[in-house]
Amino acid sequence: MCGIVGIIGKENTTDILVQGLEKLEYRGYDSAGIFVTGKNKEDHLVKSLGRIADLQSKITPEVQGTVGIGHTRWATHGKPSERNAHPHTSSNHQFILVHNGVIENFEELKQEFLQNKQLEGETDTEIVVQLIEHFAEDGLVTKEAFKKALTVIKGSYAFALIDKNDPDTIYVAKNKSPLLIGLGDGFNVICSDAMAMLAETNHFVEISDGEMVIVKADKVEIEDEKGNVVYRESYEAQFDLSDIGKGTYPYYMLKEIDDQPTVMRRIIREYTNTLGDAVIDKKIIEKLTASDRIYIVACGTSYNAGWVGKAILEKMTNIPVEVHLSSEFGYNMPLLSEKPFFIFLSQSGETADSRQVLVQITELGLPSLTLTNVAGSTLSREADYTLLLHAGPEIAVASTKAYTAQIAVLAVLAKAAGDNKGNQLSLDFDIAHELSVIAAVMETIIDEKMTISQLVEDYLSTTRNAFYIGRGVDYYVSMEASLKLKEISYIQAEGFAAGELKHGTIALIEEGTPVFGIITDQKTAAHTRGNLKEVESRGAHNVVIALASFAKETDQLIIPDVHPLLTPLVSVIPTQLIAYFATLQRGYDVDKPRNLAKSVTVE
Ligand code: F6R
Repeated sequence: MCGIVGIIGKENTTDILVQGLEKLEYRGYDSAGIFVTGKNKEDHLVKSLGRIADLQSKITPEVQGTVGIGHTRWATHGKPSERNAHPHTSSNHQFILVHNGVIENFEELKQEFLQNKQLEGETDTEIVVQLIEHFAEDGLVTKEAFKKALTVIKGSYAFALIDKNDPDTIYVAKNKSPLLIGLGDGFNVICSDAMAMLAETNHFVEISDGEMVIVKADKVEIEDEKGNVVYRESYEAQFDLSDIGKGTYPYYMLKEIDDQPTVMRRIIREYTNTLGDAVIDKKIIEKLTASDRIYIVACGTSYNAGWVGKAILEKMTNIPVEVHLSSEFGYNMPLLSEKPFFIFLSQSGETADSRQVLVQITELGLPSLTLTNVAGSTLSREADYTLLLHAGPEIAVASTKAYTAQIAVLAVLAKAAGDNKGNQLSLDFDIAHELSVIAAVMETIIDEKMTISQLVEDYLSTTRNAFYIGRGVDYYVSMEASLKLKEISYIQAEGFAAGELKHGTIALIEEGTPVFGIITDQKTAAHTRGNLKEVESRGAHNVVIALASFAKETDQLIIPDVHPLLTPLVSVIPTQLIAYFATLQRGYDVDKPRNLAKSVTVE
């Protein structure tokens, strides 16, 4: 949420900042801005409401410098406007600041320190830059004024600060919000996500919460809270520029849907051996199998993947699994079992709601595992163990390949744990083979784009609302299918347990209401068909997505059979494409839906 870039020590600063912001646009896209300056150079502050392209159109050729910071915003405090866009400047224009996060005590800070300051906008960030100026006016040098501000601020932040009287330095600090330093030859960069600066460098250094970093063109100095210098190795980014391009695709989402068979094959390579066994760090399996209950904690699409994970883990390990929303768990922690094991699911590894749960359970001394797509992300660093999703960068705001990768990695984990416990179902389960069948079936469905596009035209072109229904794992996929549809096409969609409709929600069915039924489970197929009949009798227009074994000739989408434990990996694919085409046909931006941003780093 919100993206930060910065560079010091290069001539083409403006271009680098803008290109970096374009790569970070997925993190927020309601307004943007840059500040560039340099020794004996003029200062330039350019801000714009809207997207990076809008900002770009306001940048004139004289906007040049050798040091600069930039920001793309997802509004929290203060509506999207040019005034509220970052960078923010202090009253005397000496300090310029960009911020990602939320300052919780900004009202108190305003009252205590800034009564005499004229504030321009409504953001919490402006309070911080004024606070730095206030402490500098008290006689502190910039670094100390910044440090002092950090001691009184409560909340989450990643900051990059320039003192225009000393344009040889960018001051950086973070707490709970992501920020990286990228190392170059004669220059250095900062960014919220490595992909923003991959064109400049692929060597990055992580910053820990509470540290301050002094970034100069030729050196980077990290200090801990006590002022001690910290030495930290850099790491090499695991992907390159070609991984983060759209290629010939019109949208990232379509590319990412199409990527899924490749991701399945990559997961087979990463997590199974030539005998077809699951290969997972023994320590993880020992901790997991020693537990008496598994708690899966996640948000949004990852939460929906968690429910499918529960179904697989319980069958393979016989350990009960609970699935929780991070934002609820953090403040209403359920009674825990005696030996709990926590699994955090997070594509980005940065979701603040999930992180606050991880912090709490770590304080309780409980074991944790993060499944994430981003190596080195906060949830990965702070959990006891990590399993990477290997899905490749996911850039479309609507998550697709991370969902299926999470389920596939959970299945591998379940297989390794089940084998360890001698569970017969697990011992008989050839995970490498079954996932390769999944990859092939995914390809078959992906090839049906024209059919799916036509279905969308027939059933969703004018509707205001829609339902997905199913039972068991088909219900779990219905939850994800409806989230996907509503978040990008703005059709009000609900995923419902098919048998529960008649207990109230069926009242919403009217003439022409589209109802998508998902049928992949022998036990429940007939019952879901019964529920579909009930809504049809009340005017619904039904579309059935069924596994071949349980399909009828009249079903609109028939999916080749796969292993019964893994059906969500294939039944979700048509629903992703349905969301994609519904959005396209309604003329909305598929990759950047309104009000949203990827990587939700505020609670
Ligand atoms: C929906 C979507 C979100 C995320 C959620 C959690 O398409 O992407 O619902 O799944 O914000 O994000 P992560 O997985 O990064 O923790």
